[in-house]
Amino acid sequence: MCGITARVATDDSLVPLLESLHNLEYRGYDSAGIAMSNGSGLNICKQEGEVADLEAELTDGRSGPIGIGHTRWSTHGPPSDSNAHPHTDCSGRVAVVHNGIIENYDSLKRSLLKAGHEFESETDTEIIPHLVESGLESGLDAEAAFREAVGQLEGSYAVAMIVAGDPMVYATRNGSPLVVGLGETANYLASDVPAFLEYTDRVIYLEDDDLLTLSANSHRITNSDGAQVSRPIETVDWDPEDAEKGSYDHYMLKEIHEQPVALRQTLHGRIEDGDVSLDGFPPGTFEDIERVQFVACGTSYHAGMYGEWLLNKDGVEANTYISSEYMTTPQPVDESTLVVGVTQSGETADTLEALRSARERGARTLALTNVMGSTAARTCDDALFIRAGPEIGVAATKTYSSQVATLVLLAERLVRDITGEPTADHEARLEALANLPEHVETVTEDGRAARISERWLGDAGHFFIGRGPAYSVALEAALKFKEITYEHAEGFAAGELKHGPLALVTEETPVFAIGTGAYRKRLQSNVREVKSRGAPVIAVAPRSDEELLDGASEYLAVPATHPDLVSILTNVQLQLVAYHAANAMNRAIDKPRNLAKSVTVE
Ligand code: G6P
Repeated sequence: MCGITARVATDDSLVPLLESLHNLEYRGYDSAGIAMSNGSGLNICKQEGEVADLEAELTDGRSGPIGIGHTRWSTHGPPSDSNAHPHTDCSGRVAVVHNGIIENYDSLKRSLLKAGHEFESETDTEIIPHLVESGLESGLDAEAAFREAVGQLEGSYAVAMIVAGDPMVYATRNGSPLVVGLGETANYLASDVPAFLEYTDRVIYLEDDDLLTLSANSHRITNSDGAQVSRPIETVDWDPEDAEKGSYDHYMLKEIHEQPVALRQTLHGRIEDGDVSLDGFPPGTFEDIERVQFVACGTSYHAGMYGEWLLNKDGVEANTYISSEYMTTPQPVDESTLVVGVTQSGETADTLEALRSARERGARTLALTNVMGSTAARTCDDALFIRAGPEIGVAATKTYSSQVATLVLLAERLVRDITGEPTADHEARLEALANLPEHVETVTEDGRAARISERWLGDAGHFFIGRGPAYSVALEAALKFKEITYEHAEGFAAGELKHGPLALVTEETPVFAIGTGAYRKRLQSNVREVKSRGAPVIAVAPRSDEELLDGASEYLAVPATHPDLVSILTNVQLQLVAYHAANAMNRAIDKPRNLAKSVTVE
């Protein structure tokens, strides 16, 4: 979704503000803008395009100690200069940036128009500065006018405001993230920590309905009644370098190569003496649970499917739901149901809604997330962190691997608590899990995916097939491929080919057959089905699966390991295929068209 940023300091804020906008571009990149306050008036620059285009446009005279910025992923009104944020009131004294959707903006806009306000954009956001203007005209100070304005809003929003001649940044949130960064000589506000991580790691996560007034050396948080509230100052343990691209051409490639490190962090201290040790989740934590429901979107949904497969395999009832679909037919839950929200960001609106619905209906909720302080982590009964470090590329890579590794650990705890027995083969599987970072390293160092990825570009479609856990990898690989190459790609359960998709298979449709070492014979007969229709087959499988590898037109091998974990390695090969294919096509890999990393609207 959109990225909001603000800086209030004693020195000039323009350059740090632009840097923070660059760091937030993964949230949206169809237009960008800033408003700077220099003690007297406001200076605003905004336009369609990326932050780099805005930067090129900015010449002298825009500096000031206080500023707000925005990078947009449009919902109300197409990308255009006038729809870019910040938005102002009639007088140009009030500037506002916003992330989210104001559901009642139509009726508010009608009353404002009747009262003589003039609008310049098609956005819902623009009503906010006009509402504040009305408050200021009625004699309220900036804080009171802001409070009164946001009190009229319905929907989900994070809003930041500056007013000409006023030394503060004002902000509030409801359903969309906002985090304060406390620096030495400046204070920051943003949708996410990477915006200001190079300046400070001391943060305060705002909660819904908090109203923040931020100056260069102070912060005050009040609730909707105006009473002061206290929120803890936390320290973020992310390294600023993790949020930088370094020598890589793209964040996605950097994050693919970071997977061994990310996985070491995920697993650190969590496997001890052949057993799982999860902080905050001792044996018995889930003994009252009888069934598990995973809710998730996008890549996280595919991780959830893998979790479901793991649990089902050891006799625990589990199902995975796309969060938005979960809301169309909320599944029966009770206090013995654990609903796990798999969400890298912890801010995906559809997943938060599904979790909220489950909780209200009596289920126990657990956030499986990468972001401490995220809404999911704070609103669920429990949170289990995947510890992958910041991920900037819109296409999720290292967070997927860390999610599935965490799910293996969680499954171990759940199966023991629910069935009273360890998972079948648990010692071998945990040993393989401990070796996973090393095995992933072997894959990221293998240059074969780069060499073959361009071979079928321009063909009618790329298909991915698998069985068991490799089915969810087939879906994930197809998602990754289409997200960043814009080519047609689909994933299928290998056994379903003959029930329809086979009609699409020709010499022009390469089929990636994902083997785990299990279900060999059946996968091979699926491969024969597509080969006999002339399709090139690319086997992605452990080295030990010689029959599959030898029978294919091409192969991408992965180290042999426990069959339950092989699919994680095959997925890394397929991340590389998608990356190199998109790179050959010169696609905007870190910022694919129409997509955003964190989608905070339903
Ligand atoms: C967006 C991103 C996907 C991501 C999905 C879920 O659609 O583009 O890459 O998988 O959101 O995000 P979450 O933060 O909930 O894992």
